[in-house]
Amino acid sequence: MSETIQTLLQENRTFPPSEAFKAQANANDAKIYETAAADPEGFWESWARQLDWFEPWHTVCDFKPPYAQWFVGGKINAAYNCIDRHANSTRSDKPAIIWEGEPGDSRTITYGEMLDEVSRLANALKSLGVGKGDRVSIYMPMVPELAFTMLACARIGAAHSVVFGGFSAESLEERTNDAQCKVIVTADGGWRRGHIVPLKATVDEAMDLGCPSVTNILVLKRSGQEGEITNGLPTPKYNEGSWVEGRDIWWHDIVPQQSTDCPCESMDSEDLLFILYTSGSTGKPKGITHTTGGYLTGTFATSKLVFDLKDNDIHFCTADCGWVTGHSYVVYGPMANGATVLMYEGAPDAPDKDRFWRIVEKHKATILYTAPTAIRAFMKWGIQYPDGCDMSSLRLLGSVGEPINPEAWMWYHEVIGKGRCPVVDTWWQTETGSIMISALPGITPTKPGSATQPFPGISVSVYSESGSSVEVTGPDQLHKATGGFLVLTKPWPSMTRGIFNDPARFQKTYWSRFENAYFAGDGVKLDEDGYLWLLGRVDDIMLVAGHNISTMEVESALVDHPSVAEAAVIGKTHEVKGQAIAAFVILRHGHENHPTLVDELKKHVAHKIGALARPDDIFISAELPKTRSGKIMRRLLRDVAEGRALGDTTTLADPNVVSALKDKYESSES
Ligand code: WT7
Repeated sequence: MSETIQTLLQENRTFPPSEAFKAQANANDAKIYETAAADPEGFWESWARQLDWFEPWHTVCDFKPPYAQWFVGGKINAAYNCIDRHANSTRSDKPAIIWEGEPGDSRTITYGEMLDEVSRLANALKSLGVGKGDRVSIYMPMVPELAFTMLACARIGAAHSVVFGGFSAESLEERTNDAQCKVIVTADGGWRRGHIVPLKATVDEAMDLGCPSVTNILVLKRSGQEGEITNGLPTPKYNEGSWVEGRDIWWHDIVPQQSTDCPCESMDSEDLLFILYTSGSTGKPKGITHTTGGYLTGTFATSKLVFDLKDNDIHFCTADCGWVTGHSYVVYGPMANGATVLMYEGAPDAPDKDRFWRIVEKHKATILYTAPTAIRAFMKWGIQYPDGCDMSSLRLLGSVGEPINPEAWMWYHEVIGKGRCPVVDTWWQTETGSIMISALPGITPTKPGSATQPFPGISVSVYSESGSSVEVTGPDQLHKATGGFLVLTKPWPSMTRGIFNDPARFQKTYWSRFENAYFAGDGVKLDEDGYLWLLGRVDDIMLVAGHNISTMEVESALVDHPSVAEAAVIGKTHEVKGQAIAAFVILRHGHENHPTLVDELKKHVAHKIGALARPDDIFISAELPKTRSGKIMRRLLRDVAEGRALGDTTTLADPNVVSALKDKYESSES
């Protein structure tokens, strides 16, 4: 990459951990980095030993790129580690899940109760013919039964494939067929922004499209049928779908009557725990696989150190279990630690824009883990919402999903954390299984916008196009500022074991760009303190007049302007410069567009970054096209800016947003 990128976006604020936080932290000695770097296998083995194994491993790691095996020969069960070992000891009466539904209903489930619930469900799945080595599709709202189902599968040795409840029938059908699932577990419906998401009806549509491997559909009654009163509220109208006798079974008809005795299958460390499909921007979704021993070790260790997880914490991760964040930091990581997780079903603005803060206040959450896209929405909505709630229980804040702009980081730190709570920006992927880059809150001074350092035992390098590298091994090394491709050069326990049934695509996507190194697909910049600054996907790097400029850096500069809430930047084909910068901007609450604003914003970017980053076009918009996981689809914005017909919009949360945007953009041009 060019020199330009190295000089962009200067950020000099640093926030060292407070003495008080440090004194109580699970990790507060920087030696952990040296110890882990000197012997990564020994480091990971020390974490694996803190799990309960039925039989020990004979080999810690066997790595034949692109595949690694961890704790080879060991026998273990993930559900045993997430439930039984807590239920059978001092944590039997400790809440495992505190849950809040969108309509305001709430439940608390202890580890003891969860053992019974999951065992009954596991027996029910067995009665439907599900056993070790089978696969189960899960298409459910964020209710405790979603976590129960994941763990019931793990208990009997079946792999789960959770499909986010916002995905379409086609998506569910495609994923169910790819994984050859025997059973789909769903609910009649789930609540989202005051409406019912008709899950069972969508499963019926998927079945009509054809899922020949599926023999049964297990249906939890969550929302109730039309006109029924559930949770004190009459149920609005929705498409009920059709009930197929013999195929479709109500949960309440077979689960409660099962025995609570269901021994855990002894699984090989390398047996499949789950498949999770990632909806790449093009092509068929990739079935990312994770196995048992290594995945659990990675999520267990990172939960304990990155979130500083303690027995008295209330861990609120706002991600849905349809995403890897929900797998690793709602279910497996926290529960392997015997923690209490706070789980919320619905939207952050239902019934009002203070919902998250009300939840934090009511349940006294101590840890909050959410995404930059949500944080920027909160900024847009205004501080009156968080300021109306008592959030003094919070002690740590986390961010995940995309680079967090320094301004959003500062807002999170000041408005939500009141300057008291360390902010951990955590970089990782569905493929990595657990957090790879993050501050350790009792050790690492943070810088707003930087994910800081690789987790102990993780080897990150920054490669140039040609593959020459700068290695990042620890905080005390000095590095020359440089930018390039993020690669992981050593295996780690929770790394994916490949794409389900597609080894060639796995090799090509991640392991062909550089020899024997995992290519993550993200751009990254290393500063003079050895801190990592994620720059987004490499296809989000623009080439403007021969200079590499990250869309994210221009976005951060825009969001830095007092009137801007959110910005999406793309490179638009340009005759002379190769690419010109075009920006789509949403204004903050209380700010209006005015005749000189666009010019002011262009100047602001030029001032913050340099004239070469000055956008050619800025378009003020009310909304941006986002995927269901909240990622801005820049590909579609490129189509809009370049006047092309819109490409595939099926992965968008709301396809209407982009077509309306296109119309307005085109009429503003003429
Ligand atoms: C991609 C992975 C990891 C759980 C959620 C997303 C981006 C993720 C960060 C971060 C900058 C980030 C990367 C990565 N990303 N976290 N803290 N800073 N970028 O999982 O859907 O597999 O997406 O999300 O581009 O490659 P995913």
